[in-house]
Amino acid sequence: MADVTITVRDNGNLKVEGPVTVLDGQGRAFPVPEGQAVFLCRCGHSNTKPFCDGSHRGAGFQSQVRATEADPG
Ligand code: FES
Repeated sequence: MADVTITVRDNGNLKVEGPVTVLDGQGRAFPVPEGQAVFLCRCGHSNTKPFCDGSHRGAGFQSQVRATEADPG
């Protein structure tokens, strides 16, 4: 199984590292650069969803989530 790491970045996007395929709602793949990290918007302000375009900065998006020892399920 390939390793994929997703980092929830403070006040910003989701950084996805590893071999991933990003599909739209109809199952079509977005072009993603091979071997590079993908940055997914989690603020809702991007004009290039599902990808981050940096709009979170101008929007003042604030979110610092922290992992806990608790079971996420
Ligand atoms: S997280 Fe960057 S534009 Fe939404």
